[in-house]
Amino acid sequence: MTDLKLTAEEQTFLDGDAGAGARRAMEIVVALARIYGAGDLVPVKHVQIAGVSYKNLGDAGVAFLSEWAAEGARVRVPTTLNPMGMERGRWESWGIKPEFAGPQLSVLDAFVKMGVTPTMSCTPYLFPDYAPRRGDALAWAESSAVAFANSVIGARSNREGGPSALAAAIVGRTARYGYHLDENRMADTVVEIGCPVRSVADFGALSYIVGKAVGNGVPWFSDLAPWLPPLPADITLGGPAGDRLKTLGAGLAAYGAVALYHVAGYTPEALDSGEALLRRDARRLVIHDLDEAYRVMDADPDLRKIDLVTIGCPHASLSEIQQVAEYLRGKTLATRLWVTTAEITRRRAGELGFVEVIEAAGGEVVADTCAVVAPMQMLGVRTMATNAGKMACYAPMHSGVRMRFGDVEQCLDAAVSGTWR
Ligand code: F3S
Repeated sequence: MTDLKLTAEEQTFLDGDAGAGARRAMEIVVALARIYGAGDLVPVKHVQIAGVSYKNLGDAGVAFLSEWAAEGARVRVPTTLNPMGMERGRWESWGIKPEFAGPQLSVLDAFVKMGVTPTMSCTPYLFPDYAPRRGDALAWAESSAVAFANSVIGARSNREGGPSALAAAIVGRTARYGYHLDENRMADTVVEIGCPVRSVADFGALSYIVGKAVGNGVPWFSDLAPWLPPLPADITLGGPAGDRLKTLGAGLAAYGAVALYHVAGYTPEALDSGEALLRRDARRLVIHDLDEAYRVMDADPDLRKIDLVTIGCPHASLSEIQQVAEYLRGKTLATRLWVTTAEITRRRAGELGFVEVIEAAGGEVVADTCAVVAPMQMLGVRTMATNAGKMACYAPMHSGVRMRFGDVEQCLDAAVSGTWR
């Protein structure tokens, strides 16, 4: 067991001087620090909590959170929430039953009581008020967001669990181990790409192959930069590069357990350190084509009739909503369409007129939730189509749906024509 050093303030949390809720939180953080051999704790700038849907939490999770809130626990740093199982204000019209909505609202109440901001989105890096900066220490639990923050922004976070992220928020610290340490940010696999990677769906397909191959490793993409336009100065606006990288990280985290990747000559640490970031024993992985990924991810080739086309996993950026609006302008949908996003992003998209165009076509710009964490069976959805690698991985497992996977134009064509072609 390592010698874990606590500051005087940290010790007061552990002693219960700040109340039972803070003591419970500090006990969790200290237990994890000891498990991972951390020498001390690191103050965090922001916490993102995952595991918010009643679908995942069940009654035991609701009781656990309500009890923690009743103990007087309050967050000490800005803390935001992942998507929950429905949209506030729309669940009744969707046909979600009160036996789901009631406990889901209790979960929300418990978090709000603890001082958490109810953003209900997996993309806190797209929020102007919360987007982290390079070097910031974070305690984020949403795996796709962790990959984006570590890799694209150069912030530092481990993949926290739901309770450990909440504990970190309550004491404002997390254990200093894993991706908080320089030595664990080095790459162990050089990935060479020998095929075009042109669209968000291609980046999702790439994430399948690499995620499966590297598990929880740190890939170094040696020649991916030519497939990426420059990142905009304001990452919160989205844009083609950010949209591709968010789907890449989400898929790497879903098909493998990747929390950090580097793109040579592009991502911040790779730009600064170059190949000094490569471990000496790094292995080589050559991708000749994406065929196998498309075969597995688009696993139901006879499926033509789609109940729901869903775009926005991770939650859609402003640029993705704009792309959907431009495609749909003047058209009428034959199939239900969800563009899932954060309420904050929906508001920005509304101001620019994109939401109105999508709604005029018959689509919905949905906030607070997604087709993985919402009870899709209760909504009568049995078949879906998506352009997102993570959605193609999780929705069949978590929502029991049959799935088509392809690029955004193919998905929107299915939404307009009523059939997957
Ligand atoms: Fe976000 Fe749901 Fe995808 S939480 S990353 S949109 S599965």
